[in-house]
Amino acid sequence: MKEGLRVIEKWWMKSVGYQIYPKSFYDSNADGIGDINGIREKLDYLNDLGVNLIWICPFYDSPMDDNGYDVRNFFDVAKEFGSMDDVKHLIEEAHQRGIKIVLDYVLNHTSDEHPWFIESRQSKDNPYRDYYIWHEGKIVDGKKIEPTNWGSFFGGSAWNYDEMTDSYYMKIFSNKMPDLNWKNVAVQDAMIDVAKQWLNLGIDGFRIDAVSHLDRAPFEDATAHDGEKYPLDWYKFSNLPKVHDYLKRLHEEVFKPSDCVAIGEVGGSASIDSGLLYSAFDSNELSMVFNFDHNWCNNLHEVNHPKKLKTNVIDLKRVFSSWQYAFEERGWLPLNWLNHDQPRLMSQYGDYKYPLQSGKMLATALHMMRGTPFIYQGEEIGMTNYPFEDVSDFNDISSISSYRYHLEKNPDDPVLALRKAALRSRDNARTAIQWSNDLYAGFSTVKPIPLVHPNYKKVNVEQSIKQQDSLWHHYKHLIHLRRQSEISDLILWGSYHLLDADNPHNYVYLRRYQGESLLVINSFSRKKQTFDLSPYTIMGQYVTNYPDTRINKQTLHLRPYESIVFKVKENV
Ligand code: NOJ
Repeated sequence: MKEGLRVIEKWWMKSVGYQIYPKSFYDSNADGIGDINGIREKLDYLNDLGVNLIWICPFYDSPMDDNGYDVRNFFDVAKEFGSMDDVKHLIEEAHQRGIKIVLDYVLNHTSDEHPWFIESRQSKDNPYRDYYIWHEGKIVDGKKIEPTNWGSFFGGSAWNYDEMTDSYYMKIFSNKMPDLNWKNVAVQDAMIDVAKQWLNLGIDGFRIDAVSHLDRAPFEDATAHDGEKYPLDWYKFSNLPKVHDYLKRLHEEVFKPSDCVAIGEVGGSASIDSGLLYSAFDSNELSMVFNFDHNWCNNLHEVNHPKKLKTNVIDLKRVFSSWQYAFEERGWLPLNWLNHDQPRLMSQYGDYKYPLQSGKMLATALHMMRGTPFIYQGEEIGMTNYPFEDVSDFNDISSISSYRYHLEKNPDDPVLALRKAALRSRDNARTAIQWSNDLYAGFSTVKPIPLVHPNYKKVNVEQSIKQQDSLWHHYKHLIHLRRQSEISDLILWGSYHLLDADNPHNYVYLRRYQGESLLVINSFSRKKQTFDLSPYTIMGQYVTNYPDTRINKQTLHLRPYESIVFKVKENV
């Protein structure tokens, strides 16, 4: 019987994380936008929930073309979010409560308003020219066009023409986010300096944005399908060999000496093998990587209406389990359902007819795995996707470009285009946190800049805390089990074993550690399901989402979305 291994023990393995999108978290100064002091004011809330690590999305000075991922100054705070002093107070007060802080470290690009880029575009011999990736245009039929046909993540070409020097710069996100040239050692030095300065201020680690994209393939056209002008070919700028050289240098000079946590965002582009290359215990690169493989295990791409969404449970189990198995002895994983770039968990995999049961079940299914959980703000109260009514509801640059894309395909059907863009829109996850049923959901005292979901009177933090059997209390309980309970070691260090891989309704797994076993049973179904308990003797029950448990002659009878965690003895 394979048992979990306590291979390496690091502070961040025993943490429970919480992701904050500052713009929509809490507005402390009545300007309609969330801010740093708003996070500080809610530290007791986070402490009460039990999390002890917060990842805060960018709050740096920025023109906000991509809500802060377009950084203009790495050493300053955007006016709407506060000041450097506010950040220092936040770090201090978080640390007083034992809460560590992880910041976004944006390595792939800057804003086009960053002083480096302003210099770089001035002339071909400017000292900052090579901070970015410049290329001459290609002449085709007497016309100058982009150096390659590569598409960008936010639509259109991955190159943008700049008149000043009659050349193109690479930008795999928006035109206002020129890509840094990591081949240039001066860029590496400058970004290492950024990290060191933030660590000196007392932060505890980084979530590294778009980390797999720091190297580029040779500039040759990508294969275009269906007459596409700018095909988005991830292989041209993802997981290429030099990225590992850059990360090894960062590890040696920044991560290792500070013992900080470094979590890379490897997006949808990294296979499990490349995930291991980045973050296996012996990789000398990153502590963990966020992958997105489990984010889309449903028919989202085929349907136009949320009611038609259906989770592919077998696929979901396969994906989670393959990462769990591959990393078992070799590395550590962050555990998150979805983040600020994706729809809301309740809307993606939950069931509006059974919000409490399905929400709790999803939380249990994830939090009992091996890794460090990250809760996305609002997930703990079951916030849902926004009911978009018009394209003007979108703020996110990629949602607007997705709407245009769908409208181009269906010019006579703007409603369809809106629905398609809405289902995946990143704005779903960026609505104001619903703190109470007061005006504007208690997020602000003035009309908020982020959207406020109309369901806030029913779904809000105040209500969730008041109600003893709420989703919020379920999350708190799961966090407590992981951090300070008699089964903490089992949850932290136990090996993972998927049971019944082909069952399309139940997701059941075992965790084993030092002769003890945890049996985690989750039904993803509205219909009644069963599970055979005869191979086990139940030693205790730790989690449930119904008031009682129904066992009849060693068969467990599961109601819609029932979820149970037993400590068991395995009868062999
Ligand atoms: C990933 C971030 O999560 C996303 O919000 C951002 O748009 C891109 N990287 C570009 O920085």
